[in-house]
Amino acid sequence: MIITNHVLTGAVVGAMAPSVPAAVAAGVASHFALDAVPHFGVPDRYFMRLAVPDGLVGLAAIAVVAARTPADRRGRVLAGIVGACLPDMDKPSRQFFGRSPFPALLDDYWTTGTRASSTSRCAGSRSSCARPRSPSLPWFAASAVPRVAVMDLVALESRARDLLPQGVYDYYAGGAEAEVTLGEAGSAWQARRLRPRMLRDVSSVSTATTLLGTAVSMPIGVAPWALQGMAHPEGESATARGAADAGALMTVPTTATVPLEEVAKASDGPKWFQLYRVRDGAYTDELVLRAADAGYRALVMTVDLPVLGRRLRDLVNEFVLPDDIRLANHPPTDSLGERTLDGALGTIASTWTFDDVGHFAALTSMPVVVKGVLRDDDARQCVDAGAAAVWVSTHGGRQADPVVSSASALPAVVGTVGEDVEVYVDGGLRRGSDVLGALALGARAVFLGRPVIWGLATGGADGVRDVLVELTESLRLTMALCGVTDVRDVPPDLVT
Ligand code: GLV
Repeated sequence: MIITNHVLTGAVVGAMAPSVPAAVAAGVASHFALDAVPHFGVPDRYFMRLAVPDGLVGLAAIAVVAARTPADRRGRVLAGIVGACLPDMDKPSRQFFGRSPFPALLDDYWTTGTRASSTSRCAGSRSSCARPRSPSLPWFAASAVPRVAVMDLVALESRARDLLPQGVYDYYAGGAEAEVTLGEAGSAWQARRLRPRMLRDVSSVSTATTLLGTAVSMPIGVAPWALQGMAHPEGESATARGAADAGALMTVPTTATVPLEEVAKASDGPKWFQLYRVRDGAYTDELVLRAADAGYRALVMTVDLPVLGRRLRDLVNEFVLPDDIRLANHPPTDSLGERTLDGALGTIASTWTFDDVGHFAALTSMPVVVKGVLRDDDARQCVDAGAAAVWVSTHGGRQADPVVSSASALPAVVGTVGEDVEVYVDGGLRRGSDVLGALALGARAVFLGRPVIWGLATGGADGVRDVLVELTESLRLTMALCGVTDVRDVPPDLVT
């Protein structure tokens, strides 16, 4: 009972203080001293679940202490209690007003306090972390998660890591085999250098563009990450709202935890439907027709998962889907085997050929985007088979490994099909300079995967919006610094 502890220690130090101001100061100091062992090694979020009973017991403790304290000490005792409870105003204040009442200096205290307690939560007991059992997704005290000021997409990951169980975090963060592709994704963009243009009028810079004819505010879309309900109780619906708030396009995965029709209705923002083959061709065709009926504007065939990649983190963690999580676009199943990751994702292995590109292009009026292409000859065949766009991707480094980075695969694909169709890219883009580099290399847009998940985990729809807006602002600034005013007109020689 943390609040109760603070009340009692505040009362004791207040009683010993020589004056009321000293009692408040001593109370505040006692709060931080108690929290020096962050909640005795138990993650913050578990305590959040006790916040209401704890608060009630705390109030009762205050009443008892006030009644039993001699009148000459009562003022100092109450001042000590106020001081000890004052820092706890941070979380309700963030929750209700979106900001902390304390100076930025204290921010680190809150985040590192949480981190210190939660990173140790798996020590000696990996399996209990890897196999969350409660039906109520205990790691969410969603209402208690403070709103994150996104400053750095890399730092955001460590905040998300603090909030998620180890197995869930590893599923999102991990790659395949030795994770070489994953490790190189970001540095491949950073290895390129911009060649800024000077003496250009950059008083107005536009990030607006169109993707297959759909107007968007930014050339940055949301990639189709699986199982978003593990990051936030509202899953893909929250992502849809955040993307729409930012003016970005969202790609909704087949492996969503919310049915595709519900995600479609969650926001007015433009959406594409990402397709895996589910069980059999007929069921998959039905999914495509449902997506078209629900208003999705394009079909994104993911073609780099003929079988599931070997993700060692998930194997070591013996990761299973949390009890509340369902693949909402799959036919219902009671099969226990499908609770394992391999079992669940094994159902989406899509052994497609170029003929299937033609099949889906003929089946639906939605344009077909082929995602997961790394070679120029494949890109050409996709376009010849009917693809309206090609998406260069390593699947987040989660399939074959090591493979060429998206940054190094992009130029040849653009060189081969860039005149005929739009080309997109994802993988490791974290800064405006990465995005501008990708546009200079000929991408029409980039897509973000993990950072959106980290935004979702730390701030729900607002977190998703903040990530997209943050990266767009970074892009806008880099464009101005490089003498570029329109994302649809980035000169190829801007990058070496
Ligand atoms: C699914 O697409 C995954 O990569 O886990």
